[in-house]
Amino acid sequence: MLFRTIREENASAIAKWQHFFDHAKWGMIVCDGTTNTIELMNPEFARMHGYRVEELTGRPLAYVFSEACKAGLQETLQLLREQGHHVWESWHVRKDGSEFPVQIDATAVTDQGEVVYQVFSVQDITARRRDEDSLRESEARLARAQAQGKLGSWLLDIRNDILEWSAECYRICGLSPGSPLNYQAFLDCVHLDDRECVDLAWRAAVAGGNYDVQHRIVAHGRVKWVRQRAELEYSSEGYLLRALGTTQDITELKQHEAALLKSQQSLRELAANHEKVREAERTSVAREIHDELGQYLTALRMDAAMIGIRFGEDNPELTRLVASMKHTIDTTIGVVRNLATSLRPGALDMGLGSAAEWLLIGFQERTRIRCQLQVLPEEMNLDEERTTAAFRILQESLTNIARYACASEVSVRIEQADNILTMEIRDNGTGFDPAEVGRRKTFGLMGIRERVLQFGGESRIDTALGAGTCVHIRMPCTSGVAA
Ligand SMILES: Nc1ncnc2c1ncn2[C@@H]1O[C@H](COP(=O)(O)OP(=O)(O)O)[C@@H](O)[C@H]1O
Ligand SMILES: [Mg+2]
Repeated sequence: MLFRTIREENASAIAKWQHFFDHAKWGMIVCDGTTNTIELMNPEFARMHGYRVEELTGRPLAYVFSEACKAGLQETLQLLREQGHHVWESWHVRKDGSEFPVQIDATAVTDQGEVVYQVFSVQDITARRRDEDSLRESEARLARAQAQGKLGSWLLDIRNDILEWSAECYRICGLSPGSPLNYQAFLDCVHLDDRECVDLAWRAAVAGGNYDVQHRIVAHGRVKWVRQRAELEYSSEGYLLRALGTTQDITELKQHEAALLKSQQSLRELAANHEKVREAERTSVAREIHDELGQYLTALRMDAAMIGIRFGEDNPELTRLVASMKHTIDTTIGVVRNLATSLRPGALDMGLGSAAEWLLIGFQERTRIRCQLQVLPEEMNLDEERTTAAFRILQESLTNIARYACASEVSVRIEQADNILTMEIRDNGTGFDPAEVGRRKTFGLMGIRERVLQFGGESRIDTALGAGTCVHIRMPCTSGVAA
């Protein structure tokens, strides 16, 4: 009874094994341990080689190997016998002569030290090879693109502090590829002066911020600039898992930027110097006109008057002529005075407050636009250059108001406090669209901006169509003080 059960159980186990052998998705063969002939094979093995089972049974194992792979087969089988188990990749050949890559997993079954038979399971790895090849190719393409763009990619496993860099990242940072990395190893590449900032930025990003920083690194003793950006990944429970980032070498960009800034600065200095020379010329021409020409004209007028007094009594014709001459000379004196004033108002010598007042009175008279002026404190302590700059800005702003604003009111506020000069020129006119004006090449507003920048200050224009315009400027009253 018991014996029968065991036999039945055996029979069922054998049936299961037979089923498994017949239906396995990979090829299986059993070879003789000494002769290496194929004794047994499953249908899949025959199918993958394009044979029927009977065609291959009894053949030597080498029969299914490609010519190139037959050579090393004996050595591999020797290894298998010694180790009992061996896995390798090779090339097999089909009945039609075509070759295909395989992975072979072999086990040697021994009995009292003798290899009785060997079991091989063989997998066609054509698809895997294709995937691997295309993966390798796309990785190579990515590496090439990264090298061309000087843009490396990285991945930081935050929980385990493991950092992975692409080849380009290693190149940018001047480390040999494959050196083990973590966050600290990266930080060690950062320029000493930037390390704290970078660390702070990273901590802020981890706390839920954005990571987009530009900083210096030192690679092979050379200082480089990089831009780092990263996206953080969280688990579904909200735990921070990892960061996927990019490192871009922006050294060249920074060099161009610095050169551009330098040339911008030189241009600004040139313009400032130009302006200074122009102001000085205006001042001297205005003085010359006012003092010299004015004096001569006054003398001429006195002479004309003298002629009238001396010879005009009995000569009405002469009296009339002298009166006409005096009138012409008076008009000329007026013109000369106006010319001198427009070149450089004398009020400027009495400070910005007085000059602004003088300007606004004239403006109000000419345009009938109501003006208000507030100057704090009344006596300002401002050098000539800044006084002139602020005055010219006010002048340009008033000209714009008269030309474009259709305003009925203007208010100007000038204040000097804490060594900072602020001026605000506000009108209730039409306003304008800054974007539209920005597309045009106009020099008035640009001049305002540049004049303020010369002194390390800043300017702003608040305006919108229908909402009036306000020009704000703010600049330090002595050089070296940031606004
Ligand atoms: N206060 C203002 N009100 C309305 N429009 C203004 C005002 N100031 C400037 N603008 C607009 O801005 C433009 C640029 O001004 P500006 O740079 O001084 O150049 P320009 O006076 O030579 O046109 C003007 O053409 C005008 O359209
Ligand atoms: Mg203008």
